[in-house]
Amino acid sequence: MTSLALDRPQTAASTVTTEQLHWLMDAVRRNRFIPAPEPENIFVGDGDFRAIGAEFLGHLVRFGKLQPHHRVLDVGCGIGRLAAPLTQYLDDGASYLGLDPARDGIAWCQKAITPVYPSFRFRHIDVAHTLYNPQGLLRGASLVLPLGDRSVDFALLVSVVTHLPPDEVITYSRELSRVLTPGGTVFMTCFTIPSDGVPKTVTDPRCNFLRIDDGPSWTGRQDDPLGMIAYDEGWLEARLAEAGFECEPCRRGSWRGTEAAHYQDIIVARRRSGRA
Ligand SMILES: C[S@@+](CC[C@H](N)C(=O)[O-])C[C@H]1O[C@@H](n2cnc3c(N)ncnc32)[C@H](O)[C@@H]1O
Repeated sequence: MTSLALDRPQTAASTVTTEQLHWLMDAVRRNRFIPAPEPENIFVGDGDFRAIGAEFLGHLVRFGKLQPHHRVLDVGCGIGRLAAPLTQYLDDGASYLGLDPARDGIAWCQKAITPVYPSFRFRHIDVAHTLYNPQGLLRGASLVLPLGDRSVDFALLVSVVTHLPPDEVITYSRELSRVLTPGGTVFMTCFTIPSDGVPKTVTDPRCNFLRIDDGPSWTGRQDDPLGMIAYDEGWLEARLAEAGFECEPCRRGSWRGTEAAHYQDIIVARRRSGRA
């Protein structure tokens, strides 16, 4: 495969202007040479693969303050929807590791992305998941991330916590706290339910969440609860805080039927210095 990466803006991310970011997002949307899987192999949701990748590049930089030199961990990288735009943003000093229990997604990324962008690596984690890896041998709640302490600057979980049970969220919060450097970032998308229940403004039928037993999680799918998970507002932030993070106020998404630039809610958290 030929590498035809775009020329990137030369400025450091801390000084990337809105104009430059929009230019890059537009270029990502339109560059047909950025690796993309065949539509029938995309298992990570509806919508245009490149357009959603470009949109999230914008959110990662604007809200998460992702910088081009960061060492990035993409938990639940799927079939490279975020990795693809990041190939155009991260520089030679950066690194990227994508982890996922879905073998096909990892195999495609290893074949289509790594040979062109060698600093982008992908690794299968054999965590069991009813939808994505039913035969998996590991329990997510016992997972140890295959990374050293303080070896990551930026961790993202896009549309992943929306498929995880509470005990796995707790494990990931602890593990992310271990592998992130002090000041490092967690960028997470999620659905959060206010204390008075699912907002009346919701019109998306997938978001008719019902509480699971008497725990903090809700599901939009009675047939396979992990297909669409939401959490009580504040619960995710509380787990992150216990693990040593400071959270910015949650950015509410348009799934509620209200105006927002993103569909799911977004939580950005920074690793405090010192132990949790
Ligand atoms: C909706 S997809 C999102 C994929 C990707 N983040 C994106 O936005 O394109 C959810 C992903 O979470 C992954 N996943 C499920 N359980 C996981 C776990 N315990 N750890 C990491 N990833 C998990 C699934 O395999 C799937 O690829």
